[in-house]
Amino acid sequence: MSTVPVEKQIETRATARPVTAALESAASFHRSGDAAAAEALYREILAADPRHSEANHNLGVLLIQLRRACEALPHLKAALDGEPERPLYWRSCVEGLMQAGGPTEALRFMREAGDRGVPKEFAAAMIGRLEVLVKRIGERPGAWMPDLHGEVYTRVLKRLHETLRPQTYLEIGVETGATLALARCASIGIDPRFQFSNMDVVRQIVAKPSLMLYQMASDAFFDRWHPAELLGSPIDFAFLDGMHHCEYLLRDFLNTERYCLPGSVIALHDCLPLELPMAERARNLEALDPQRQTMWAGDVWRTALLLKRRRPELRMTVLDAAPTGLVLVSNLDPQYQPIVSCEDWVEEMLSWSLEEITLAGYYREMGVEPEIHLRSPEQLLARVRADGSSDRSSHVG
Ligand SMILES: C[S@@+](CC[C@H](N)C(=O)[O-])C[C@H]1O[C@@H](n2cnc3c(N)ncnc32)[C@H](O)[C@@H]1O
Repeated sequence: MSTVPVEKQIETRATARPVTAALESAASFHRSGDAAAAEALYREILAADPRHSEANHNLGVLLIQLRRACEALPHLKAALDGEPERPLYWRSCVEGLMQAGGPTEALRFMREAGDRGVPKEFAAAMIGRLEVLVKRIGERPGAWMPDLHGEVYTRVLKRLHETLRPQTYLEIGVETGATLALARCASIGIDPRFQFSNMDVVRQIVAKPSLMLYQMASDAFFDRWHPAELLGSPIDFAFLDGMHHCEYLLRDFLNTERYCLPGSVIALHDCLPLELPMAERARNLEALDPQRQTMWAGDVWRTALLLKRRRPELRMTVLDAAPTGLVLVSNLDPQYQPIVSCEDWVEEMLSWSLEEITLAGYYREMGVEPEIHLRSPEQLLARVRADGSSDRSSHVG
């Protein structure tokens, strides 16, 4: 997995070649998420100077973020040809190859890179990782996906708070409080074991008009408490990140929806696993990519797929937020009564095999889209609300 955050991959260095105002503007559009303006400007620079390394590199990174890796490759390779001593350019090029052709292509490229000035330590580490990955994937190409290149989910959540400006917030699965800290409104946090330890985060967590913490499993919470009564009004925004088994997330979703408004938003975490081992119900299976060994998404992908297949009236926006996606669900129905029992749905979900569906097939069916497309408040609101308004009360179906 790339360890360099996307925003740090966008360059505006002062180099021997003067940094043009156009490149700075392009990078600024890029960072703010105006992908069309950034792409147009990068291309303008390259029309004047086709070998401009930074413009080539940045355009390549942007095209990866736009999930157009095949188009990115020539630019990433051109950047590398210009400045082969730069590990960042090698890393981006390998990432482009992983996205466009898979790990085998990336490994071949790295093995042939020996005499092209690749930094030695970088090459050894990358080849080692890719050899393990290629061997473990073996005959299971449908078992692996490249990394997601949207912004990290916490930044997307921060933008959601800033854009939706919820009056009330509910979070299931709080742990250290890193995501609860993003809410500025009346909030409820639920977790059987809070693990607050960082005083700065705690200060952020309590920076709210009211905060209720329930140290218990979410099922026990909903058995006993009515969140809308506790908050004084329905839930405007919720983040579900508790137990990573599909039946838990299904119950968390249905229980939360009952206390929402039609225009509220429920965000689901970890529904885009990157490879099969992390998508299993068991933890700590051997990862295909050694860099993903600590990652566990569980089988909550099943819940996302169930909602997609059985609740077509829901508005689902599936973002490629790093590392394992963020699904925004809106057009909710607080009065919803399942036509079949929850147990039937669980049975149906558990009958699905991601090995058969394949990860690529699952991503296609879910309609994964580049998070960079929804950076502005207008884009975000237009997507989660049919009328693009900040009014959460009306039925928008
Ligand atoms: C991945 S962590 C949450 C991380 C946090 N939302 C963040 O992004 O920083 C998952 C949390 O879910 C909690 N959890 C596990 N089972 C749960 C349940 N049944 N109800 C609520 N929370 C649960 C765990 O204790 C753990 O703290």
